[in-house]
Amino acid sequence: MLKLGVNIDHVATLRQARYRGAPTDRQVEPDPVAAALACEQAGCHGITAHLREDRRHIIDNDVRRLRDSIRTRLNLEMANTPEIVAFALEIKPAIVCLVPEHRMEVTTEGGLDVAGQEAALTELRRRMNDAGIEVSLFIDPDPAQIDASARVGAQFIELHTGRFADHYHRKDARNEELQRLIRSARQAHAAGLLVNAGHGLTVENVALIHLVPHLVELNIGHSLVSRAIFIGLDAAIREMLGVLQNYPG
Ligand code: PXP
Repeated sequence: MLKLGVNIDHVATLRQARYRGAPTDRQVEPDPVAAALACEQAGCHGITAHLREDRRHIIDNDVRRLRDSIRTRLNLEMANTPEIVAFALEIKPAIVCLVPEHRMEVTTEGGLDVAGQEAALTELRRRMNDAGIEVSLFIDPDPAQIDASARVGAQFIELHTGRFADHYHRKDARNEELQRLIRSARQAHAAGLLVNAGHGLTVENVALIHLVPHLVELNIGHSLVSRAIFIGLDAAIREMLGVLQNYPG
């Protein structure tokens, strides 16, 4: 079955909208850790959190509490900066997903340029693996980036589905992007990489992602938290899991 990793950043975004700067010893709502536990209760397979340099949503204490309380796998999304790398090596999540990060962006806009920083990423991949942490690289569905990811020795890639999602309502552009995702998943699988995907996925558009072979896990955040406002978090997770069950593998 295609696994579901829930990105709980947007629960923290809502909290920070009211409580940015509040002391971390006082639990304020909504608590992303409580949300993560509710997602696990509903059957998700992993929890993803992005610790951004500006701490705009998830903060260090959330990651520590997630590590100590969740029962599935913690996937820490992060940029390759010395401070965040040191934090990850201390916390030891099950897996880190390396992403590019720009302060002015609303969300992660493009994939990581693995080909342009192969040596640095190989070194980081080694340090993480030596600490018992698996490594995933968030990349655009681009043959050069997939080849570079294999050379870096990452265990996983996460294919950026943002363009597919953006073009979902324009059939030609959407199908073109879907073909890129399909070719990329095949190439990555042949190179020995495990393949995840994510960004901009919804219960509606994820049905077409079923055409992409070799997927292990989808990481989904914004649409699940948005759906939760109307139907509740438990129902939103179960609804998505119901759709993912139909993945042919
Ligand atoms: N995967 C990665 C690497 C991301 O950066 C994000 C967004 O934080 C997601 C998945 C989830 O994207 P969305 O919130 O659009 O579902």
